Amino acid sequence: MRFITLTILLLATTISAQDETLSNSIERGKLLYEDFCVRCHMPDGKGQKDIIPPIAKSDFLFKHMEESIKALKFGGIDGEIIVNGVKYNSRMEKMGLYDDEIADIMNYTLNSWGNKYDKIIKEDYVKSLKK
Ligand code: HEC
Repeated sequence: MRFITLTILLLATTISAQDETLSNSIERGKLLYEDFCVRCHMPDGKGQKDIIPPIAKSDFLFKHMEESIKALKFGGIDGEIIVNGVKYNSRMEKMGLYDDEIADIMNYTLNSWGNKYDKIIKEDYVKSLKK
C-alpha cells in the first residue's frame, strides 16, 4: 500500500515538473525577476526616474519585444532609448541568464503590473534568436 502511494506521488511530481503552463513559468519568472531585475526596475516594474526605464506598461517592451529579449540574452541595452515618451541613456549589462530563465522572466514581465500578453514565450524561441 505504502509503495503504491509513493509511486503515485512520484508520478505526480514528475508530471508537474514537465507541465509547461504559462502560470508555472510566471511563478518561476517572479523569483528570477527578484534576483536579477528588481534592484534596477523595482518591485512595481516602474524603474527609476530618468535613469532606469519602466517595464510596467512599457511601449518599448511590447513594440520591440524581440530586441528586448535579445538584450537580455546577448549584450544588454546601451545608448539612447525612448520608453513611454521619456528618453533614457544608461546601460543595462548582460546578466548571464539561461534561455529558459529569460523565457520565464519574460512571461512574468509580460503579465505583471497591468501588462498582458496572450502568448507564452518558450525556451526554444529564446534559443532561436541570433545576435
Ligand atoms: C543594473 C540595472 C539593470 C538591471 C539589473 C536590469 N536592467 Fe533592464 N534596463 C536597465 C537600463 C538602464 C535600461 C535602459 C538602457 C538604455 O538606457 O539604453 C534597461 C532596459 C530594459 C528594457 C527595455 C526598455 C523598457 O523599459 O522596456 C527591458 C525590457 C528590460 N530592461 C528588462 C530587464 C529585465 C527583465 C531584467 C532582469 C533580467 C533587467 N532589465 C535588469 C537597467 C537594468
